[in-house]
Amino acid sequence: MLSYRHAFHAGNHADILKHLAWLGVISHLKRKAKPFVLFDTHAGGGEYPLNADYSQQNKEYLTGMSALQGARAQSPLLEEYLHLNQPIWDDNVYPGSPRLLCEALRAQDHAHLMELHPAEIDHLQQCVVQHGHDQIAVHHRDGLEGLVALTPPKPNRGAVLIDPPYEQIDEYPQVAAKTGKVLQRWANGQVVVWYPLLSERAAPKAKACKTMVETLAVAGKTCFTAELVVAENTHDAGMYGSGVCIINPAFQLDEYLTQAMQEVCELMGSHARFSLTWRKTEAA
Ligand SMILES: C[S@@+](CC[C@H](N)C(=O)[O-])C[C@H]1O[C@@H](n2cnc3c(N)ncnc32)[C@H](O)[C@@H]1O
Repeated sequence: MLSYRHAFHAGNHADILKHLAWLGVISHLKRKAKPFVLFDTHAGGGEYPLNADYSQQNKEYLTGMSALQGARAQSPLLEEYLHLNQPIWDDNVYPGSPRLLCEALRAQDHAHLMELHPAEIDHLQQCVVQHGHDQIAVHHRDGLEGLVALTPPKPNRGAVLIDPPYEQIDEYPQVAAKTGKVLQRWANGQVVVWYPLLSERAAPKAKACKTMVETLAVAGKTCFTAELVVAENTHDAGMYGSGVCIINPAFQLDEYLTQAMQEVCELMGSHARFSLTWRKTEAA
């Protein structure tokens, strides 16, 4: 069952956290000239026109992107993020993870983008043809199965973004199991897993998510989680924020992300709170 469409949510607070973290990972890989390989297991449509009916329905970009438009950043990661995004936002388009990747990838790097939805795959292919390069491959297939099949990559420097819709509760254990399998064969791969923060109303999913994060936290050499909370966690709040679990994060990514997200919170308003927690360190 594939009913999730990211266009309803494009540019919301969760996208800002996820895309800042993903850009931070990519930027760090770019510090060396050596090529790398990226994987986006649940790529979506690539980019989202904000005047389309989907985006206009709930205008979720008002909870994220709109607060950052026209802002001037102090922190290096937020500055890079705004520099890359602002011209696209000016066209009233929100760049999803694939468009971000198209903008950030260098000639020597490669990427694999996977998407299962029959309509989204067409949008994704168009996005890559328009903004991408020959070395970006688009796969119409299950993202987690594709990731296992395509890893470890050659060269084995690289990173993964796992951003499922979590419509089905069994997606949580699937992410944990497949990520563990990948890391057994690709021990130095960096993995970014996005997850929702859900209130008591969605207790079974919230519990499955907690178990997933606990499993992911010990699957690699090191791990931290970074969370952005945008509402009170009352019983009926639903999704009151989100997090990213970053396995094998690059040196100082925690500092870069914290600086950027603290600025983001100031721009979003007093309801927004960011926290970062190391779950596994080298010594542990
Ligand atoms: C949250 S959206 C992705 C958004 C995108 N990563 C971004 O940041 O712009 C999740 C996507 O996963 C797709 N999807 C759902 N199940 C999938 C599966 N088993 N394999 C690959 N893609 C899947 C959905 O169609 C949807 O487009």
